[in-house]
Amino acid sequence: MTSTNDIRRSFLEFFAGEGHAQVPSAPLVPHNDPTLMFVNAGMVPFKNVFTGLESRDYVTATSSQKCVRAGGKHNDLDNVGYTARHHTFFEMLGNFSFGDYFKERAIELAWNLITKEWGIDPDRLTATVYHDDDQAFDLWRKISGLPESRIIRIATADNFWSMGDTGPCGPCSEIFYDHGEHIPGGPPGSADEDGDRFVEIWNLVFMQYDQREEGRVDLPSPSIDTGMGLERIAAVLQGTHDNYEIDLFKALIAESAELTGTPPDGETAASHRVIVDHLRSASFLIADGVLPANEGRGYVLRRIMRRAMRHAHILGAKDPLMHRLVPALAAEMGGAFPELLRAQPLVEETLHHEEVRFRRTLDKGLKLLDEAVADMGEGDVLAGETAFKLYDTYGFPYDLTEDALRSRGLGIDRDGFDAAMAKQKAAARAAWKGSGEAASDTLWFDIAEEHGGTEFIGYTADEGEGQVVAIVKDGATVSTAGAGDEAIVLTNQTPFYAESGGQMGDTGTLTSGEMAATVSDTSKPLGRLHAHHVTVENGTIETGQVVSLAIDVDRRTRLRANHSATHLMHAALRNRLGEHVTQKGSLVAEDRLRFDFSHPKAVTAEEIAAIEADVNAQIRDNAAVVTRLMTPDEAVEAGALALFGEKYGDEVRVLSMGRNGAADYSVELCGGTHVSALGDIGLFVIVSESAVSAGVRRIEALTGEAARLWYRDREAKLLRAADALKTSADELPDRVAALTEDRKRLEKELAEAKKALAMGGGSAAGPETEEISGTAFLGQVANGLDPKSLRGLIDEAKSSLGSGIAAIVAVNDGRASVAVGVTDDLTDAHDSVALVRTAVEALGGKGGGGRPDMAQGGGPDGDKADAALDAIRSAIGG
Ligand code: ALA
Repeated sequence: MTSTNDIRRSFLEFFAGEGHAQVPSAPLVPHNDPTLMFVNAGMVPFKNVFTGLESRDYVTATSSQKCVRAGGKHNDLDNVGYTARHHTFFEMLGNFSFGDYFKERAIELAWNLITKEWGIDPDRLTATVYHDDDQAFDLWRKISGLPESRIIRIATADNFWSMGDTGPCGPCSEIFYDHGEHIPGGPPGSADEDGDRFVEIWNLVFMQYDQREEGRVDLPSPSIDTGMGLERIAAVLQGTHDNYEIDLFKALIAESAELTGTPPDGETAASHRVIVDHLRSASFLIADGVLPANEGRGYVLRRIMRRAMRHAHILGAKDPLMHRLVPALAAEMGGAFPELLRAQPLVEETLHHEEVRFRRTLDKGLKLLDEAVADMGEGDVLAGETAFKLYDTYGFPYDLTEDALRSRGLGIDRDGFDAAMAKQKAAARAAWKGSGEAASDTLWFDIAEEHGGTEFIGYTADEGEGQVVAIVKDGATVSTAGAGDEAIVLTNQTPFYAESGGQMGDTGTLTSGEMAATVSDTSKPLGRLHAHHVTVENGTIETGQVVSLAIDVDRRTRLRANHSATHLMHAALRNRLGEHVTQKGSLVAEDRLRFDFSHPKAVTAEEIAAIEADVNAQIRDNAAVVTRLMTPDEAVEAGALALFGEKYGDEVRVLSMGRNGAADYSVELCGGTHVSALGDIGLFVIVSESAVSAGVRRIEALTGEAARLWYRDREAKLLRAADALKTSADELPDRVAALTEDRKRLEKELAEAKKALAMGGGSAAGPETEEISGTAFLGQVANGLDPKSLRGLIDEAKSSLGSGIAAIVAVNDGRASVAVGVTDDLTDAHDSVALVRTAVEALGGKGGGGRPDMAQGGGPDGDKADAALDAIRSAIGG
């Protein structure tokens, strides 16, 4: 038997052999189309190549594209489990020509692959063409030799394929496989075509047009898009008409049966099918960056997961089941899709978390449902109120309740459900007070209520498309904004991060055709809207318009590095300074990071050096940064540090980064954007440490290029200093120490010299001692003498006098300082304080003080120095 993996490989190799570029599957979340929830056909990633907006370095390609059809236009969720061929996740094999070959070669390649390469019996094959496509009809005749009766003209949209309301489209030709008479059903176009006997295995689309809102235009050149469901062709090649019987599903169902201890077929078959189908879509969505949420894509994922979890419950699974099936899925599909292996821990953890959470309310919800339907009979409908209660209180998505009622032949009153939902929203609105700015708050509330929160695609993408849902100008909603206008633009999805958790909002551009607007900031009203603050540069932006959103990638790269470095530094601070360190504030800007934290004293230079070294060691270790989703309680259990000022919902993103032995170095709750591996931070340097308030310190730091430039600047300053001192940078510290020593010595010598000069011009003689009324007196005026020397000089004079009074007036810059000393034997008769006050008065000052044996003072009139000495003489003479 040819395995599903072999069939995929064989398809891709066949077309590679025919000159087609093998292109890996694009992620499931389409960033080039805001109207599309998930990639749902192989051509989606090539949409802009068909229309000529984008060119690649190949003109023919082949791929096996992951597709999800759940939510949005193509939604197969409700049918999964109950039919042979519905899936929420499937692979579409395709070959594409972008203006290269057209119908003839497309039919030829298809026919050769299925009949020659794979050996499918032509007698089992039927082709359809669009009713007026004679060319395709003739080509089928010529190439396949099929009788005219098995080339069926179909007039309906079934044979005109379009991607959506807009986009590339064209007539198509489908190939059907006849599973044989034992299965009921008729050929395409017949009354019983819906039976399972004739199954479409391949759709060849002859892309010719681009459907635009204003009408249909020709593509730059006719092109080819084909799509073959891998699971269907595997069923054909493996001799079964049931997709769930192929090797891949058999293996997954066997695992589900084994883990639940239930038979893989019979009554439990539908549940196993739901479980393994949903396992695939949930796992691949998570691997492509979607996480369960209450809005948008995340909610579709949650619905898929919970539907599967209810079926696990039906099978009597005692413990969470889904995450235990992931290894089997990885074994089957990880070879073809390495992203599944890379994300396996995240997939398992997310499934486990969701199942634990849902099982808390599942039992109670099912009990309520059982009671509500106990008396109902086939065809009855469940009250909308009850379905809403199940949704609101027990976490039952609407379609889960629908699925639960299906086996009993019961429906739901959808209108009643919608009414209950509307009532609850109205109540929430009435109870809502807003944050003070009543007018603008109400505006945001209205927008959020009508359009839901903005879906943020910026964790994985730097650019994407979004549909404008509202424009706000001067505090009111408007439908357009023109060149020169400043406005706030909201889109249904965006890669722009809105300022929160300390990280600044993104900047960038919004464009669409002629229209160009610059985004100078992105804010986050109500915590769920991403508000782009724009200036329209050209053209007009209007609601409903699809715009390309591109963030300033360079700036975001720096923001990411600064945000991740903040987490690492927070951990390093706690390790080095202690657990008392908690975050008091944080700013993650493009050019620096600032972090405030509780700590009672200044962080020493040694501590700073150690913290910086710790962070840089983590950067060099280059471990991957891991994001997980948990409840706040689980996050705290996992050791997460909660961020200051953030409001947390039911679920939080938990960022783990770095290694500390076997544990994570840093675990924090955070909705910000981060590097994918720590090496991306490059370099980390702390540039300042200061006090913010009592017990709160602030550190500012730089990363990457900014850190390098900081070191460059320091180096330049160092070299300038070394140059000025005519030495090398290496010698600089010794040279500076030596100079400082020299300077100290010189200062001392200078003071001595000045003193000597002041006290007598350096001559040995010095001032003369006089006698006043029998008391020896030594008086001196010293110009330029440092007043600090007065005390020492007075002491010296006193000891040289033995018994007597000394007075010195030091004159500097016109001011005078005076000191008077009286030897101990004379202090009964003469008081230094009284004498100095006399002098101070003469110097035009006031006061002066000290002890009886030594006092000091000063005055503004330096030219009265001699008069001051005379005043002292008079006082002594009494
Ligand atoms: N795009 C075509 C389809 O999805 C091939 O059927």
